[in-house]
Formats: sequence, structure tokens, C-alpha cells
Amino acid sequence: SKLNPTIFVIFGGTGDLNKRKLAPALYNLFTEGYMPEKFSIIGTGRTKFTDEKYQQVILENVNEFSRNGKVKDDSWKEFGTNVHYSSTDVTVPETFEGLKTDIEKYQKEFGPETQVIFYLAVAPNFFPLIAECLCKYKLTENEDNSRIVIEKPFGHDLETAKELNLLLSKIFTEKQIYRIDHYLGKETVQNMMAFRFANSLFEPLWNRNYIEHIQISVTEQLGVGERGGYYEGAGALRDMIQNHLLQLLCLVGMEAPISFDANEIRDRKVEVLRAMRPFKPEEISTNAVRGQYSKGWVEGKEVPGYRHENGVDPHSNTESFAAVKFFIDNWRWQGIPFYLRTGKRLNQTSSIITIQFKDVPHHIFSSRATETWQQNRLIISIQPEMSIRLQVQAKRPGVKMVLNPVDMVFDYKGTYDTDTPEAYETLLLDAMNGDQTLFMRGDQVEAAWELVMPIINTWESKKSLNFPNYPADSWGPEEAEALIARDGFHWFTLPLKDKE
Ligand code: BG6
Repeated sequence: SKLNPTIFVIFGGTGDLNKRKLAPALYNLFTEGYMPEKFSIIGTGRTKFTDEKYQQVILENVNEFSRNGKVKDDSWKEFGTNVHYSSTDVTVPETFEGLKTDIEKYQKEFGPETQVIFYLAVAPNFFPLIAECLCKYKLTENEDNSRIVIEKPFGHDLETAKELNLLLSKIFTEKQIYRIDHYLGKETVQNMMAFRFANSLFEPLWNRNYIEHIQISVTEQLGVGERGGYYEGAGALRDMIQNHLLQLLCLVGMEAPISFDANEIRDRKVEVLRAMRPFKPEEISTNAVRGQYSKGWVEGKEVPGYRHENGVDPHSNTESFAAVKFFIDNWRWQGIPFYLRTGKRLNQTSSIITIQFKDVPHHIFSSRATETWQQNRLIISIQPEMSIRLQVQAKRPGVKMVLNPVDMVFDYKGTYDTDTPEAYETLLLDAMNGDQTLFMRGDQVEAAWELVMPIINTWESKKSLNFPNYPADSWGPEEAEALIARDGFHWFTLPLKDKE
């Protein structure tokens, strides 16, 4: 591999993200030959571990969470010897001394080309502390050879996001900063650029002249689980819409970039956010809906309501569901609604983008022929089904002229027989390669916060009178249906296939 020798320092080396995502991703990159020839992974945390003990922990994590299942061959041996541990307490700056010594040891061993990547897989209140310590111990001075990867949430609101950007900009240059939005690493999400800009067929239709409305729906069956403590301070708007869903909206809404260059692409995305119509306070009650789940039944088991989850205030005002209607005020999208919804404990886990095209200008078929009439739709299914469906009208076989909608389907499963990498594999490799295309730039994060702040402020200042307002295993609160039904539409879902 042509990659420079790399030292990967993971703050939160004993944490959940490393366990589930980072460690398995790094191991899979290794088995597939993508890791640099020389690399060292240094996990850090407050616990004291020897390298050997930490290697065991990571092996267990990989065995449990890798998409390839348990480690089968001797690849582990070679990988494992590159895994190290350096006990660091980020609240005690002096403990960075030891980390620095460890880093310098591998730097010396690997040579002057060595790059160091600091991955902040910790709670956001530690981001500033870590950044400042890295600066104090002069670990990030070489801007070509050191990078920082920051997990979400990036800020708690516009103000804190700005503060964090400002702090980071004093220590790093923008090209050293990798803000993660793991949705951008998903195979189906990356394919949206290919779909739109590697085909000549769709782009001419991709505007207000042909499109009637757009939906972005990311629903989850799971509740907040063990993350109640974090989630209670966030809510669906901060947790999902401000980042993942708005990133999807940018990919649908952006103008064609002139090249596949990280900043060019991010410029086009920021333009979308800047063109989005700001919310007037009086519009929020009609264009934004919040919900909170009550207890219910999921697959024969009783599940608690949001207010009874661990770490959640029994009188919580935090939304576990949000639906918002947005507009993009530019030539391409003027007047075309973008409906976004997301929530926990819903009836189905599924992320889909639906683009509904305008009706034919003139109907020639009889009302009997068109009983199941449906306008053309393009459905980009991100997960769990990975597909793109174009729904068109067809004549049903038979002696009479009867039409019904059929799907023209591109299904990843039927088309490719390779496994798709996990988002984190793509993103970690990009960070090692110095490719920022799939990471959020500072101005992008701020623009997204700016857009959602009026909703957040209104919701926080007004306690919802009817929380909880949707039962577990439902499609969310009725108001969300009303939000879209008022315009004559309804939320689309894909029929669930049998569970695999
Ligand atoms: C995270 C959110 O960013 O994304 C979680 O904090 C959410 O609340 C998760 O469950 C969804 O990610 P995915 O990849 O499972 O769709």
C-alpha cells in the first residue's frame, strides 16, 4: 500500500464507538490490504491496560462486531501486534506526556513520513480539552502529517459549534480537521453522487419543473437504549436532522460540481444550506412536528416509553421524533417541499429518499384503467434494503387496458456479489489518505445549525403539551401525517422484506 506509515491514536479506546465500529473497521481494512505497511493503533483511556490486555479486548470487539464475523485466520496475529495502549486521562494534561513518548517511539521507528491521526471517540465535552493538550504537547504542529477526526455531535447548538470551530482553528488548519458524519460513508449515500452526476438521464428532470416533492425518511425501530443520558440532551432534531438528514438533503439538492474535489463538493453542499428558507417563529408550529414515544409492544415484548428510559427525565421535553418541511429558495427548487422525518421506536428501520415527479400533463386513460394510478417516483433506499427504484406505470397483461405502477429496480444484492464496506471503513481510509470529501467542513456544520436553531429554540422554550404522543411500533405522531397530508401527499414506506 502506498499510504504513509500511520499512527492512529484513539481517544475513547475503551469506549463503545471503538468497540463497535472503529476497531472492526481498522481490522477489516487490514485484512483487505488497505492499511499502510507500517501502522500503529494506540488506544487511550483512563483504565490501565498493558498492550497485551488491550489487544485481547480489541480481538473480542472484532470477533463480536466485525461484519465478517469472527477472526478466522492468522491475520489477527500480525494486526494485533500493532495494537497498543497508552493510559491517558484527558482531564489531566500531564498524562499526555506518556502518550507523546509512545507516539514518538513509533514515529522514530516508522520514519519521517509518518502521519498521526487523532480520533476523538469521546463525549463532546472532552473535545476542547483534548485539542488543547495536543497543542500544548506540540503533537499537531506538522500540518501535513497530523490530523484530527471529530465525532458528532459537533456542538450542541450554533453558538457552541462556532466556539468549537474557533478553538480548532487556532490549533489546526481546516485541512487537518475531519468532522465525521457517518452517513456520508455509507455506500448507498456515496452512490448518490454517481447516480446524479455520472448519468445524463436524471439531471434534466432534477428540478422544480418535473419534481413535485421530496421526502427523506430515516426511521428506526430501536429506542434510545443505553444512550438515554446523551439523547435526553439532544433529541431527534439535533441527533439526526442537523447532520445526517440535512447531509442527504444536500446531496439531493446540490448543483453539479465541476470536479470531484473535496472543497468543490463541499462548496456545492454549503450553497444548498445557505439557500434554505429560514424559519419564521410563527411558521414552526405548522412546518415542524415533534413526538415522543410511549410504551408499547415490539415483536411480542413490552418496551418502555421514552420517559421511562434510563437517563431520561420523567417529565422530559425532548423529542424522539421530528418531521420538518423545508424549502430551498433557488432557481432549481423554488416552491418544492422537502419533507424530512426521523424517529426512534417506529414501526420500521429504514432510510429512504423519495422523489415524486409531477403528474402527466394530460390523462388519456379511463378512470377504470387508472384505478391504481401513481405518479412516477424515484426511491433511493439507503438501508437496510440497498436499492434504487424507479416507479413507472405499465399496462397490466390482459385483454383490457389497465395500468398499474411497477418498479424498475437496481438492487445492490442482485447486481454485485461483493460485500459493501461499513461506513467507518471508508471514512477511516479516507482520513488516512487525506481525503476530506466525505467529511463536513466547518462552515457546513454552522450553516446546518443555523437552519435548525429557530426550531430548537421554539421547542425548548415551549413544553409540549401532549408528550408522549406516539406509541412504540407506530409511524410517529399523527401531526406528522397531517404535516404532509395538508399538501396532498403521504409518507412513503417500502414494504419490508422478510428479515434476513
Ligand atoms: C447516530 C445517532 O448518529 O446515528 C443515533 O446518534 C442513530 O441515534 C444512528 O441511531 C443511526 O445510524 P445508522 O447508521 O444505524 O442509521
